[in-house]
Amino acid sequence: MARDQVVTPAEPNMPRFTGWLRPVVDAVARVKAGVHRKLLFGFLIGALLLVAMGLLSLLVIRQMDDRMIELDDAQAKAGRAQEMLYAVTAQSHYRAMALLLPDDAAKYNGQVEDAKATFAQLLDELHRAEPASATFYENVRTVNEDYRQSGERVVAFINQGRIEEAKGVHLAEEHPTSHKLEKSMRALMATAQEDMAGAQADFRSARDLFTGMVISFSAASVIVALLLGFVLSWAFILPVRKMERALADITAGNFDQRVDVPNRDEFGGLARGLNSTSERLATLFDDQRRLATQLGETNLQLDSALQESLRELQRRAEELQASRARVVAAADAERRRIERNLHDGAQQHLVALAVTVRLAQQLAATDPDRARDLLEQLGHDIQDAVQAMRDVAHGIYPPVLMDRGLVAALESAATRAPLLVEVVANGNMGRYPQEVEAAIYFCCVEALQNASKHAGEGAVASVTIGRDVGGDGREVVTFSVTDDGAGFDPAETAAGGHGFVNMSDRLGAIGGTVEVDSEAGRGTRVSGTVPIDGQG
Ligand SMILES: Nc1ncnc2c1ncn2[C@@H]1O[C@H](COP(=O)(O)OP(=O)(O)OP(=O)(O)O)[C@@H](O)[C@H]1O
Ligand SMILES: [Mg+2]
Repeated sequence: MARDQVVTPAEPNMPRFTGWLRPVVDAVARVKAGVHRKLLFGFLIGALLLVAMGLLSLLVIRQMDDRMIELDDAQAKAGRAQEMLYAVTAQSHYRAMALLLPDDAAKYNGQVEDAKATFAQLLDELHRAEPASATFYENVRTVNEDYRQSGERVVAFINQGRIEEAKGVHLAEEHPTSHKLEKSMRALMATAQEDMAGAQADFRSARDLFTGMVISFSAASVIVALLLGFVLSWAFILPVRKMERALADITAGNFDQRVDVPNRDEFGGLARGLNSTSERLATLFDDQRRLATQLGETNLQLDSALQESLRELQRRAEELQASRARVVAAADAERRRIERNLHDGAQQHLVALAVTVRLAQQLAATDPDRARDLLEQLGHDIQDAVQAMRDVAHGIYPPVLMDRGLVAALESAATRAPLLVEVVANGNMGRYPQEVEAAIYFCCVEALQNASKHAGEGAVASVTIGRDVGGDGREVVTFSVTDDGAGFDPAETAAGGHGFVNMSDRLGAIGGTVEVDSEAGRGTRVSGTVPIDGQG
């Protein structure tokens, strides 16, 4: 999958019927403040709602208290008016008793005074409590003063024993005045009753109003708290769910997951962290996959190189085996050649020498002249035998090579060659192990023989030998045999003879190599190198 194909997980759903709140949730998520502050704000709003509820309750209690006081006042007023009415009625009653029972008049008149004192005290209280109704209370006071004055006149007549006159004043003045006072008191009671009814009605309506207010405020507070809690919690739940889904995908190996959240709080930071982690993982995964591919390719290459090396090794092993077989066959052939040469050459000479010596012995006594001739001939035959032995020995290892080294041996071979040969030695060649000198010598001799056999009339050859340092840092002896003759195409020339094969076998046996470079009409160059392993 390409790195730029970024996938965003599906939007998580909010609870049913709450989709309309999504813009508010996103707006809260977008507020640039930490989770701690957002939660603190939510709790602060809840606490403020509670405080407002408490204040509202205090207000309600205060208002209800006022209504209760009004009610109490109205009740107290009604009670005082009732007591004052009793006090007036009691005065009439005690005064009548004093008039009917003159002997106990002092006692009853005293009780009348007590009732008057009670009335006056209650009147003062009512007046203080209701300064707004001062006119009414002043009127009552004026009537009460008339009542008191008529009462004093009645008491004066009673004290003088003039009972009948006292009764006359009582019936004409004091008693009608008491009715006036009673009427005022009843009016006062009626007003108090009205006030009480009004206060009760106020109390009920205030109670209903405040009950409604408290219920409405409570309901509004609950709704506001619920909405606030919902919006705040979903502003945190939505990014968490998105990241949860993305993480599940990342765990399954889909590193192209990216989370896009509006949050500018800790959850926003978390989403950014998750995105960069996913991106980094994708890069690492790509690198790992590329490395695995490269490793696979390298493995394949190594494998095929190994196969190639194995094939090469096998080919070389086969070549080596064939070479060993050829070396053995060449050794056998060489042994047979030496045997044949000894048999046909040196052995014949020696046999002939033995025959001549025996003949010379027989003739020594009978024919000394003939014997002398035979001995003379024997001397020549011995020379021939020596020459034959030398020829055999030459075929195996030239004495000059053994005695004087490579350059001298090649120069000697050059003089025997039927074509013109120049031998060049680059630097002081020195001596090398016998097998190195022999291999190079026989290769050069074979190349010279080829040149004399195949290069054609008038061809000129040159032999060059020298020292060099090979590719692996080891010292090597180099040689080349070049002619300007007919040349040939190495690719097309059938391997009829043994010359080149012997060359490569001889050199190969001591770690050397040989190369043939030729082209029809452009001469031939045979060159090779032999490592000398520090000996020389
Ligand atoms: N200097 C040369 N000029 C032209 N042709 C050559 C030369 N050297 C080799 N050849 C060609 O390469 C062939 C192979 O040579 P090689 O020495 O292997 O065999 P040969 O000389 O034919 O026989 P043998 O060496 O066994 O006596 C030769 O037959 C000849 O055609
Ligand atoms: Mg040859």
